Amino acid sequence: MSLSLVIHAADEWADAVASDLVERLRAEPRLRLCLPTGETPAPLYAALVRQADAYLWSQATVVLLDDYIGLLADDPASGGPRLRRELIDHVRPAAFHAVNVDGEPDVAARELDAVAAEGGLDLTLLGLGLNGHIGLNEPASTAESPTRVVELEARSQAVAAGYGASHAPTQGITLGMSRLLESREIWLLVTGERKAEILARALEGPEASDVPASFLRRHRTLRVIADEPAAHLLRDTTPV
Ligand code: PGA
Repeated sequence: MSLSLVIHAADEWADAVASDLVERLRAEPRLRLCLPTGETPAPLYAALVRQADAYLWSQATVVLLDDYIGLLADDPASGGPRLRRELIDHVRPAAFHAVNVDGEPDVAARELDAVAAEGGLDLTLLGLGLNGHIGLNEPASTAESPTRVVELEARSQAVAAGYGASHAPTQGITLGMSRLLESREIWLLVTGERKAEILARALEGPEASDVPASFLRRHRTLRVIADEPAAHLLRDTTPV
């Protein structure tokens, strides 16, 4: 395992992560990124928009991590349109692959998987669900779970409702844990006191399906980037 833990003050977190990502894009302009939506990355995307110049993203590719099925495209919780609003429309990468949530779900999952598999993912940014999910790899997922259509736990449905969904979605499409673990590098983004307990379980509890995020510890280059409130229950915060 090669886990590095970076902790920032809450009010510096978004700018610090954005600076690291900008630096990476300058060094590797053709980066293939997998990106999530949600409350965690929203301030990061705002900081990235502030820090981007006209060319920074012009050779980069972005693949969306997951999305809900059954919401209208203009629903505030729809992942593809949300990522476009918060980031893509501003920074204009060479390519953006959303999840085709209007198509036949199994076909859309296969298409999403093919996009990630064929070009590979260089850097995957992930949020951490309150229930320990990664993408929409809900509890009971394993490290081998494929990209697929998933049933959402009640807690994940409530999260979607919190994003302003007109009705709580019951299904989604997610890149599978197995595909995510193939990414060359992973940054797990975790902010806020409400994530402190699940972050401690993910990093310091047993590696098990009830907290799918715990499987990320198998990855060879995992960087956990937390703010102080999210990190405060970790026993070991020695920087590595
Ligand atoms: P959040 O969601 O960033 O909105 O907290 C993370 C998740 O549920 O995966």
